[in-house]
Amino acid sequence: MKVFKINGKTGTSEIVIGESIKNLSKYSKSNKCVIVTDTNVNALCGAFFPSGFEVIEIGIGEQNKTLSTVEKLYEKFLEFGLDRASYVIGIGGGIVCDVTGFAASTYLRGIRFGFVPTTLLAQVDASLGGKNGVNFKGYKNLIGTFNQPEFVLCDFEMLKTLPIRELKSGFAEIIKHAIIADIQLFSYLEKNYENALSLHRTEIEKILYDSFAVKSKIVSMDETEKGERRKLNFGHTLGHAIEKTTGLLHGEAISIGIIAAAKLSLKKGMLTQKDAERVENLISKFGLPTKIKMDKIAVIDAIEKDKKRENKKIRFVLLEKLGRAKIIDIEIDELKGVVSDMC
Ligand SMILES: NC(=O)c1ccc[n+]([C@@H]2O[C@H](COP(=O)([O-])OP(=O)(O)OC[C@H]3O[C@@H](n4cnc5c(N)ncnc54)[C@H](O)[C@@H]3O)[C@@H](O)[C@H]2O)c1
Ligand SMILES: [Zn+2]
Repeated sequence: MKVFKINGKTGTSEIVIGESIKNLSKYSKSNKCVIVTDTNVNALCGAFFPSGFEVIEIGIGEQNKTLSTVEKLYEKFLEFGLDRASYVIGIGGGIVCDVTGFAASTYLRGIRFGFVPTTLLAQVDASLGGKNGVNFKGYKNLIGTFNQPEFVLCDFEMLKTLPIRELKSGFAEIIKHAIIADIQLFSYLEKNYENALSLHRTEIEKILYDSFAVKSKIVSMDETEKGERRKLNFGHTLGHAIEKTTGLLHGEAISIGIIAAAKLSLKKGMLTQKDAERVENLISKFGLPTKIKMDKIAVIDAIEKDKKRENKKIRFVLLEKLGRAKIIDIEIDELKGVVSDMC
């Protein structure tokens, strides 16, 4: 078991890697604890939830990551009589974590909360860093807060029931962390991808730890995304547009976004051909898509709606080399060219 701390302005987060969900009550000390989960996770893991905790179930999928789900949570919090001393725990994937974090951060101007992420994507990304929120009017994560969970408990056992496609999708975020800030992790992934995919404890523990190190270092430097933290959006400008228009999973869509950003870095003379190929090869080793048929117009429309866009330019993350990202403003037309090349 490894413990990692994120010290942020909005609080300290304790990340416990390799802990069992059976020890959850050790981390959520309160006389009233409420679990928020989704229907799948409740059916698969509900038996491991501590007794005596109230359980609230939400529906599955992005269509439930809304203010109306948050409102339902507020109603339940009221019904259960939660107060400032109570504890809310989100047990599930990124959707459960994002919605739970937002509801807990806003109810009574904020009550304590923690996460037990049950997908790899939630373990390495969604549960960490204090961003939470919901979608609004077709815009992803438009409404939300920055607020750190008090703890994040990562139990590898939970990942064993995860469909393989969801598991691979989570590795895309780990690959992203390696590409933007940790060349050693990148090489380790190249050598150990098979054991990683089979969830061998030694490999998965090391990979998660190193991946957390990248994210937590960046988050500690820039909690509210004014500069450095934008590097975590590597592959995401195109990735989000692809996710929205193709129905690919988040990690699958950002895999294609990562490859496109690497190719653009190559085109701009920032990355070598060899390194751009290493990026594509690693993504393919993890069984993630490297290309997809897509509707050029719809993808461009989605990019134009991107909230990071400023006039005719868009803030974009490119690579100076493997292990080092750089944020630059690029012309929206240049990005359209990249999409055209990909279609
Ligand atoms: N806050 C952040 O910083 C941040 C970062 C990255 C992603 N996100 C958000 O995370 C969300 C995606 O997260 P996700 O990929 O975990 O999706 P998800 O929460 O929809 O989970 C994926 C599916 O797996 C199921 N599932 C969860 N755990 C399981 C398990 N152990 N076994 C079997 N099935 C299980 C879920 O019920 C769901 O059907 C997106 O909304 C994205 O915006 C947030
Ligand atoms: Zn992501």
